[in-house]
Amino acid sequence: MPPSPRLASSLPPDLRYQPGQKALRMQIKILGSAALGGYPQWNCAGHNCNGLRTGSLRGKPRTQTQIAFSPVDGIWFLVGASPDLRAQIEATPELHPRGDGSSTRHSPIAGVVLLNADIDHTLGLLLMRELQPLRVLATNSVRRILTKDNSMFAMLERVPDQVTWVDLPVGARFPLLDLAGKASGLLCHAIPLGEHYPAYVSPARRSELGMLESSLCLMIESPAGHRLAYMPAVPRIDEQMLTLLDSVDVMLFDGTFWSADELISIQGSGPSAGDMGHVPVSPPSGSVARLAQLKRPRKIYVHINNTNPMLNEVSPEYRQVRDAGWEIAEDGWQFDL
Ligand code: MLT
Ligand code: MN
Repeated sequence: MPPSPRLASSLPPDLRYQPGQKALRMQIKILGSAALGGYPQWNCAGHNCNGLRTGSLRGKPRTQTQIAFSPVDGIWFLVGASPDLRAQIEATPELHPRGDGSSTRHSPIAGVVLLNADIDHTLGLLLMRELQPLRVLATNSVRRILTKDNSMFAMLERVPDQVTWVDLPVGARFPLLDLAGKASGLLCHAIPLGEHYPAYVSPARRSELGMLESSLCLMIESPAGHRLAYMPAVPRIDEQMLTLLDSVDVMLFDGTFWSADELISIQGSGPSAGDMGHVPVSPPSGSVARLAQLKRPRKIYVHINNTNPMLNEVSPEYRQVRDAGWEIAEDGWQFDL
């Protein structure tokens, strides 16, 4: 990917790489790319899920959406913590612990950035409850939903310095710090995407939460000045978002549903894509059409629900998004930025 001189010069000197750090690049891994339930989903005998199981449909199984990025060799941050995290870590050697002789406890995972409170974005935190120090960046609202209303999250605060909750600043660029509080080399920017809290949040709690803290885009800027925008749940697309996305090199965008009434037409009832806080892919107001004007970013769909027909690689829907210049993420993809 060609560097952007405009962005490279904007990096403050204290965030540039230090001598001894190996590479001036950021590695990104897509550990999981499906939406809620994964693909196939355990209780789904629909066309896509059964087609994949029987081999009558051309497509790939996917675990629930999860990405990881590394600003320097040996240090990784997760964005989200999916319910499939344990298997995703095991499938990724770079994320394995390294014993150093004095201790068998270690993890290259320095922190987790949470962009919303969805179960498929946060449940994995409970899978990391084994007293490994971790920085978790979340908005005050997301932290309150998890720690005040869901008592199991107390497992993350059994000993001092187990999980250090850090307020994720919304709307301002900030340096991403490692566990020791040192700049990791990356600048981040969390951008509000519109109000949508998960269905499990009580009305009483909802009334106390910040409007801009529910669903975020995380923009990550590499030391070389390249930008990634990660948006697994996008309630709406507006002009501000289009301007923002025009400056990124890669975007990982909400590909949950093909159509607005996908679940209703398949199951006979259920919420619409909009009710669930997801802009669908295909309608005139959907992501393919609304983001068509963006020429700069590499466009990649993530968080793809098992009902979405574009999962079938011989379907007209798959062809349509590919012809529109989009890629459909698969588990295990990785790239440097
Ligand atoms: C979503 O993306 O809409 C949520 O993850 C739904 C869920 O967790 O059930
Ligand atoms: Mn989700």
